[in-house]
Amino acid sequence: MAPLKGVTDHIFRNTFADHFEGIDIAVSPFIASKSDNKIKKKYVKDVWPEHNTRLPVIPQILSKTAKDFIILANYLYDLGYDIVNWNLGCPYPRVANKKRGAGMLPHTDMIHAFLDTVVPGINGKLSIKLRLGWRSKDDIFRLIPILNQYPLEDVIVHPRIGIQRYEGEIDYEAFCQCMALIRHKVVYNGDIKTPEIFKALSLRFDNVSDWMIGRWCLANPFLPGIIKAGKDDVPDKIPRMKQFHDALFEQYNSILDGPSQLLNKMKGLWKYFSFSFKDCQKSMKKIKKTRHPDHYLEQVNLFFDNDAKWL
Ligand SMILES: Cc1cc2nc3c(=O)[nH]c(=O)nc-3n(C[C@H](O)[C@H](O)[C@H](O)COP(=O)(O)O)c2cc1C
Repeated sequence: MAPLKGVTDHIFRNTFADHFEGIDIAVSPFIASKSDNKIKKKYVKDVWPEHNTRLPVIPQILSKTAKDFIILANYLYDLGYDIVNWNLGCPYPRVANKKRGAGMLPHTDMIHAFLDTVVPGINGKLSIKLRLGWRSKDDIFRLIPILNQYPLEDVIVHPRIGIQRYEGEIDYEAFCQCMALIRHKVVYNGDIKTPEIFKALSLRFDNVSDWMIGRWCLANPFLPGIIKAGKDDVPDKIPRMKQFHDALFEQYNSILDGPSQLLNKMKGLWKYFSFSFKDCQKSMKKIKKTRHPDHYLEQVNLFFDNDAKWL
């Protein structure tokens, strides 16, 4: 499961694993490193082992400063994690403009210096998640010879550039060229929307070691299980989606502060869940308009019981 900041937190990951098949491991949404050497509970509690009993997790760090990365990574290894992932893919301007995430990709020398300090300083394995570049795929081709010098666990490639964010064409040809050059295990990530797309990609890229799915696990939570089983014979998809929804609602209700946080969280999930259903715009509008949890649940129940049609 790919990391989606604000979405695939431990509540989501555990509840997903309770209701659906097919996900072996999740990379957590990023934790940004801090320069004050302090590990704040607020930032790290999502990856505390006691919160992650249902699905193995690889914690992810966003950082451009080797010293701060090492402190946070070693804290995470001390919690019992073998592998930590470094985020070189985040395209959000407030991250990338500070040469973090995908914004660091053009700065090959900075990445080289970072790895030179981090690799000997950490007490566990390092995985990297990146894009092809910030403005151009030239970035990754300059970077691969550097990455090849270090003992990395794997390299997770989302074959878009940063300025594309999450839309637009995926550059499959560039991914293919990268795979031939990277001496580490390569994980593919991006737009695995259907079992058919997965099948075509797995035939085309038979050297990929693992497959990572993000938004499309939310849009169709049965997808990873269907891919694993090689067939779609899942019964009762709508009642099972409702059970999943209700479990998430209950869990978030017990930890979030007040009705507006709860409604924001649940409405954010519907942005993805709505992809699973035909002609659901009217129901989505009604759900979005609700201002109180009781009214929200009423609209959601009406939708699942009367109007939901699986795509
Ligand atoms: C809302 C949102 C939040 C994301 N947060 C992260 C993150 O914290 N770390 C990361 O490496 N990628 C993050 N991503 C990127 C996803 O992990 C993934 O690379 C991207 O969605 C493409 O895969 P998909 O087509 O399977 O969704 C985020 C994407 C979205 C849409």
